[in-house]
Amino acid sequence: MVSTITELKTRIDAYLDQALPMDIDQPTLKESMCYSVEAGGKRLRPALTLATIEMLGKKIDQNALRAACALELLHTYSLIHDDLPAMDNDDLRRGEPTNHVKFGAGMATLAGDGLLTLAFQWLTDNQLPVDVQANLTLALAKAAGPSGMVAGQARDIEGEGQHLKLTELQYLHRQKTGALLKYAVQAGGIITEQPVTVIDLLGTFGAQFGLAFQIYDDIMDVVATPAQMGKATQKDAAEHKNTYPGLLGLDGAKEQLQKALSQAKAAQQQLAELTGRSMAGFDQFLAYFKL
Ligand code: IPE
Ligand code: IPE
Ligand code: MG
Ligand code: MG
Ligand code: MG
Repeated sequence: MVSTITELKTRIDAYLDQALPMDIDQPTLKESMCYSVEAGGKRLRPALTLATIEMLGKKIDQNALRAACALELLHTYSLIHDDLPAMDNDDLRRGEPTNHVKFGAGMATLAGDGLLTLAFQWLTDNQLPVDVQANLTLALAKAAGPSGMVAGQARDIEGEGQHLKLTELQYLHRQKTGALLKYAVQAGGIITEQPVTVIDLLGTFGAQFGLAFQIYDDIMDVVATPAQMGKATQKDAAEHKNTYPGLLGLDGAKEQLQKALSQAKAAQQQLAELTGRSMAGFDQFLAYFKL
């Protein structure tokens, strides 16, 4: 049986609450790092890793849980830095004042630095086989760093005031958001030591899911309220961000979202055929996209 997202979130939250404070050796930095992680969040990335492990027939042990939670640390760093005055300049995140509003831009920058670095510590400070640790480290570095999320964020800020074409915007979204979600799914395959064909196909599912995720985030910026999202909305257009609704209108953005989702579903089906296992555990993640 595959756990529900709610069950996985409970385990992720408990692990983060217990393990994070142990590795931070300065009181204000500890408060600041724990503040943003404990503010909550849907925990979709680590939940994707853990659900993938279960779908592939393995149990979630403490090592897998630690490796999955490493990604949540890294994701939280990306949000703290994304919200900084010099980036998106946001005051609300996960329903709470942003890290820099509470602790100042200097401490918020360091909280992000700390979470980014600690993520790689958790990926290697565990009892997983060393080649699994090495594969996770390489995959996360590629997904999060200057060939992935950070490159996408650079395109995002440089693109303000420029008019990107659809192919360029899709590339930006694949990097800034898709890469970490693709890694989230592939990490489940790496931890369970799957053949490369399976890891590639997990990547196809994760990449389409990740593209859909950012298109949906762009749509929610237009149609949702801050209370629903726990962060500011109706802000992308004012900031001259390149978004799917900005380029294609709401209907066009919804069409592109459906296209990415149907490609994710096709990969899910192919994965079931290749592994001989049910991949229905992904359905609860696909149910996130409600229009
Ligand atoms: C927000 O990610 C940033 C984007 C990539 C759009 P989430 O929507 O997963 O945020 P949390 O973790 O639940 O706060
Ligand atoms: C994704 O883009 C952010 C990251 C990659 C960290 P956004 O800037 O749209 O995310 P939100 O809307 O602030 O959560
Ligand atoms: Mg941003
Ligand atoms: Mg932002
Ligand atoms: Mg957004």
